[in-house]
Amino acid sequence: MFGSKKEIIGIDIGASAIKLVQLKESKSGYKLKALDLEALPSEAVVDSSIMDSNTVVQAIRDLIVRNNLSKNAEVSIAVSGHSVIIRKISLPLMTDEELDGSIQWEAEQYIPFDIADVYLDYQIVGPDPADQGQMEVILVAARRDFINEYTGVIRESGLVPVVVDVECFAVENIYCSLYSDGLLDVVALIDIGASAAQLNILKDNISVFTREIQMGGSAYNEELQKHFGLNNEDAEILKLSGSFEGVDSEEAHTVIDKVTDNLVQELARALDFFSATFNDEKVSKVYLTGGVCLTSGLMDKFEHSLEMPVALLDPFSRIGVKESVFDLEFVKKSAPFYAVAAGLATRTFGDKI
Ligand SMILES: Nc1ncnc2c1ncn2[C@@H]1O[C@H](COP(=O)(O)OP(=O)(O)OP(=O)(O)O)[C@@H](O)[C@H]1O
Ligand SMILES: [Mg+2]
Repeated sequence: MFGSKKEIIGIDIGASAIKLVQLKESKSGYKLKALDLEALPSEAVVDSSIMDSNTVVQAIRDLIVRNNLSKNAEVSIAVSGHSVIIRKISLPLMTDEELDGSIQWEAEQYIPFDIADVYLDYQIVGPDPADQGQMEVILVAARRDFINEYTGVIRESGLVPVVVDVECFAVENIYCSLYSDGLLDVVALIDIGASAAQLNILKDNISVFTREIQMGGSAYNEELQKHFGLNNEDAEILKLSGSFEGVDSEEAHTVIDKVTDNLVQELARALDFFSATFNDEKVSKVYLTGGVCLTSGLMDKFEHSLEMPVALLDPFSRIGVKESVFDLEFVKKSAPFYAVAAGLATRTFGDKI
């Protein structure tokens, strides 16, 4: 605000790992200061809920120490899952101030939780194309107890949460900062993480449709576990390396390919649903983020099934990365994991919590 922008750290508490991105804003744009990841055991965060807060706090503390973060550094975090409700609603035209006063009341009918138990946020999208007297508003409601789990582990680890975003909006944030120079179209951003995939469809750089698909990287592990009688850790090794003692690699590939087919089908179905409900509007390009998009063959299968271009979104493509500090090859390879954290780190201080 007023010229001197603060540095904010993005922390993405994912099911498989906590990711950290620290950016510094300079006249020539963002510069990467830190990026790091601390893996979590599979039972620490389940279905977006923090089940083992001690382990999560310890992992954040490890990140703080390794990256020399100062005590009380300000961070932005993101949430997702069934405790977060995103709805596009149509309301009579009113000013921001008027809406601020009435949003609690307006929201009540759209939120399946007691309004007293949720944090509410909203964004006016623009005039409702179906009714000139109305405007479209994106309403976000998240259960207070759920948000407090996340802000609680951040505070306990010695940091200060200043922004709480929604995962798919953090990816949108980084996408829009990369393509701010007017790439206007209908595009789908899909972050495929360990536990779920977050879909966000943008029209002219504004979110028009969001959806969570309950399938991610752990679906591969489950199938490999079942098929080969492995535990989760060994299934992960098999998935990532393609081989494991006593396992026929070709058979493993067949199992992996089948899960990819299912995943691609689920995602394609969600895109079809969007087209069917949104004036036959067609997505023209898909951008993928999240660790699962590195699955061999996934992008090809997706492209084939959708008959449209599917690309990786590189959150660091417009961020200055110093060769003397970072291994550029490593940053490029790790990019899919850091889209949410990078999107969070580009939030400026003053955004709503
Ligand atoms: N090379 C790879 N090929 C296939 N899958 C991979 C690869 N590398 C990582 N993964 C998978 O990606 C997932 C981790 O990705 P990511 O860090 O984006 O998820 P997360 O943020 O922890 O999960 P969520 O977003 O669901 O909370 C894990 O399931 C991991 O097994
Ligand atoms: Mg994630």
